[in-house]
Amino acid sequence: MGDATAARAESAHFGLGRLRRLAAATVAGYVPHARVLELGVGAGPALPRYREVFGAREVLACDPDADLLARCRPRATAANAFVWRGRAEALPLADSSMDAVFALQVLHHVPDWEAALVECARVLRPGGRLYAVESLAPFLGLPPMRWLMEHPTDRFTAERFLEGLSRTGFEPEAARGFPGTTLWVVARRGSG
Ligand SMILES: C[S@@+](CC[C@H](N)C(=O)[O-])C[C@H]1O[C@@H](n2cnc3c(N)ncnc32)[C@H](O)[C@@H]1O
Repeated sequence: MGDATAARAESAHFGLGRLRRLAAATVAGYVPHARVLELGVGAGPALPRYREVFGAREVLACDPDADLLARCRPRATAANAFVWRGRAEALPLADSSMDAVFALQVLHHVPDWEAALVECARVLRPGGRLYAVESLAPFLGLPPMRWLMEHPTDRFTAERFLEGLSRTGFEPEAARGFPGTTLWVVARRGSG
C-alpha cells in the first residue's frame, strides 16, 4: 500500500468521519469539542483526526496495553496528544473536565463496560458527548469470531448498550449500524 493510500485508509478509521456526520445531522446544537479523550487508543490510528474532524484543541488518550502504547507514541507525538497507560474504568481525570469521549471498538473488550460508562459520564461535562463504535454480541458470538479473537463472552446487544447508556447518565441522541453487527452511537451526558 502506498503512503497516500495508507493515509486515506487510516483517515477513514472506524468511521470517525461518519460519527462526525451522524452528530452534525442528528444532534441539535453540535459544537466542536475542545478537550477530547480517546479510550483504548491502541496504536493510535484515530489520533491524527480529532483536531481536523472534531475541532479538538487538546487530545488525551489511554490504553492498558503497553505494546500497543509503544506503537502509539510516534502518532501521539505527531498529533500532539497526551497518552498514558490506564483503563477506561479508572480515569485519572477531574469530574466534568472533558467535552467529548471516544470509544472506537473498545467497550466490548472491557469486562465491566458499564463501569467504564460511569467513568465516562463522570469526566464529561454536562452536555458533553460520548461517541462510540462497537461490535455487538451476535457478531462477536459467531464461531469464526470466537476462534479468531478473544472477547469477554457476555457482550451487549445494541439494545443492552443503549439501556446501559441511559442507566449511566447518558441520553442517546443518534444510533446507526448494522443489526447484530456494529453500532455507531452519539450520546449526550445528561445534567443529572
Ligand atoms: C479493537 S482495539 C481498538 C483500538 C483502537 N481504539 C483503534 O480503533 O484502533 C481494542 C482496544 O481496547 C483496549 N482495551 C482493552 N481493555 C481496556 C480497558 N479496560 N480500558 C481501556 N482500553 C481497553 C485494548 O488494549 C485495545 O487497544
